[in-house]
Amino acid sequence: MADNTVPTITLNNGVQIPQLGFGTFQIPPADTKGAVLTALEAGYRHIDTAQMYGNEKQVGEAVRESGLARDEVFVTSKLNNNRHDPADAVAGIAVSIDALDLGPLDLYLIHWPLPEVGDYVQTWRALEGEYETGKARAIGVSNFQQTHLERLFAETAIVPAVNQIEVHPYFPQPSLRAFNTANGVVTEAWAPIGQGAVLDDAVLAAIGAEVGRTVAQVTLRWHIQRGDIIFPKSSTAARAAENIALFDFELSDEQMSRIDALDANRRLGPNPDEFNVVPE
Ligand SMILES: NC(=O)c1ccc[n+]([C@@H]2O[C@H](COP(=O)([O-])OP(=O)(O)OC[C@H]3O[C@@H](n4cnc5c(N)ncnc54)[C@H](OP(=O)(O)O)[C@@H]3O)[C@@H](O)[C@H]2O)c1
Repeated sequence: MADNTVPTITLNNGVQIPQLGFGTFQIPPADTKGAVLTALEAGYRHIDTAQMYGNEKQVGEAVRESGLARDEVFVTSKLNNNRHDPADAVAGIAVSIDALDLGPLDLYLIHWPLPEVGDYVQTWRALEGEYETGKARAIGVSNFQQTHLERLFAETAIVPAVNQIEVHPYFPQPSLRAFNTANGVVTEAWAPIGQGAVLDDAVLAAIGAEVGRTVAQVTLRWHIQRGDIIFPKSSTAARAAENIALFDFELSDEQMSRIDALDANRRLGPNPDEFNVVPE
């Protein structure tokens, strides 16, 4: 039988992270514990949440109730946009730790750079301090553009372990991904199936027919072979199981190239250079 185990990736501080996890954006808090327990039963060992999603508490409950050892499940959360002030960032990581109630975080991210709201360099320094005291095993950023990363590299001590950015076949971000890689920052691809936008694509459907897999599986496999970390979200148990069954088939170089050619430079989410929204 083919080995269907999720591989791990080593971050720039030596911490190991499963290359595939389970995303929880837009899962209502009341549904989150059940969805995460289902994902853990299906074999997921990496959960991506955020203060913004309002479901950290339920993610923590699911991990605790799963019966899995704490070190068997990798949990990422993210600082909310109203906590960029350094003192608020320090308090903010404590809020996540309390809500999840799993001990130190595995990975903690600045969710958005918010270039016109305070100074993300100061926010990053606050996270560095919390990392040094053991609040998180690794720290990183999300939605950072090259210019934002360049400031962190020039002005701070720790290189982010990851940069979690929008990546899917219609927005494959070749330049930012290459910049991440060149600097030891692992790319995490959010919206890996374009929040459903790629599911009707004829090229992906044709490749799916060639390999006997669904469009979602073909797309997720493309990310895996590119080396990015992904955490597709599904509230449907059968789809969550489908999305992890990626490690017993491969796409050829020619199939990978046909997917690369779908680049339409089409973002779904906001442009991080222009996004400065802070909740009340
Ligand atoms: N850092 C950031 O700013 C940021 C932004 C967005 C997302 N994220 C993270 O990235 C994760 C993934 O992104 P995402 O949730 O936005 O989008 P996504 O994973 O690309 O797509 C999720 C959507 O696709 C559907 N779906 C999932 N698997 C499917 C399948 N096999 N067949 C058909 N439909 C399927 C889901 O519906 P059902 O649930 O009904 O199955 C849902 O509507 C998030 O959950 C979150 O953890 C981070």
